[in-house]
Amino acid sequence: MKNYTARAGSTLTIDNGGERTTIDLYSKEGLDFLSNLWIKSAAQHRLMYEPTWLGRPIIQFPTDIVAIQELLWKLQPDVVVETGVAHGGSLVLSASILELIGKGKVIGVDIEIRPHNRVAIEEHPLKHRIELIEGSSVAAETLVAVRKAIGSAKSVLVFLDSNHTEAHVLQELELYGALVTPGSYLVAHDGSQAWVWDIPRGKPEWKNDHPLNAIHKFLAAHSEFRIDPHWTRHGITSSPDGFLKRVTETEIAGGAA
Ligand SMILES: C[S@@+](CC[C@H](N)C(=O)[O-])C[C@H]1O[C@@H](n2cnc3c(N)ncnc32)[C@H](O)[C@@H]1O
Repeated sequence: MKNYTARAGSTLTIDNGGERTTIDLYSKEGLDFLSNLWIKSAAQHRLMYEPTWLGRPIIQFPTDIVAIQELLWKLQPDVVVETGVAHGGSLVLSASILELIGKGKVIGVDIEIRPHNRVAIEEHPLKHRIELIEGSSVAAETLVAVRKAIGSAKSVLVFLDSNHTEAHVLQELELYGALVTPGSYLVAHDGSQAWVWDIPRGKPEWKNDHPLNAIHKFLAAHSEFRIDPHWTRHGITSSPDGFLKRVTETEIAGGAA
C-alpha cells in the first residue's frame, strides 16, 4: 500500500472535465469530499461485494456493517425484517447479534432465493434465528406472511434492501414503515445510488431514479419518522439519509428525536 505526504494546508482538487473544485484536505468539507469520492471510487471497484459475515457474503460497506451492529445492540429488537436477502450475509449479521442478545428472529424476504443461497442459510449455525419468505416484498401475500411471522413482537426493526427504484422503495417504505414500532428504525439502504450514476460503471437512469427520492417523499408525508444522522456519521455509507427513526409519543410531545 502507498502513503501520500499531505501536510497541514494541503488541498484536494478534482478536475471534472475542466470544472475544478479545490478543498482544504483537513477541513470538515475536505472529509465530506473525500468520503463522497471514496463512495464513488469504491462503487466503481465494487468493494461493497467484498465483506462476508460469519461466512456469508454481505453486500454492504464495512462502516454500514458496524452501524447496523451498533443499532441492533442498542435496540435489542424482537424481530428484524429485511427485504433483499441475496447471499444471506445481512440476515446472518442480524441473527448473530440477536443470538448474543439471546432473543429474537430475522425475517428475510426476497423475490428469488437462489437454491445455493437457501441451502447455505439453512445450513448456517444461526439458521434457528432466520425465517425466509420468498416473494416480491410489495406483494399482498408477502405482507400477510411477514405480519404472521412478526406475530405479537413488541419491537420490530426493518431494513429495506431489495429493488432500488424510487417507486419500489416508496412502496416498501409505506408498507414496512407501518410494521416498525415506536423507538425503532426503518432503514432504507442504497440511497447512494443517487451519487454513483456518474461513475464509469454507473447508469444514467440512477440520476433521477433512486431510493433517496423515495425516502424524502416518504418523510414529507410521515412526521412520525425522522432521519437519524448518527448511524451515517462516518460519512462512508450506502445509505445516506437512510436510517429513519420512528419517534416515540414522548419524543413527539417533546419535539426531540
Ligand atoms: C442488494 S441485494 C440484497 C443484499 C443483502 N441485503 C445484503 O446486505 O447482503 C438485493 C436483493 O433484492 C432482491 N429483490 C429484487 N427485487 C425484489 C422484490 N421486488 N422483492 C423482494 N426482493 C427483491 C434480489 O433478488 C436481491 O437478492
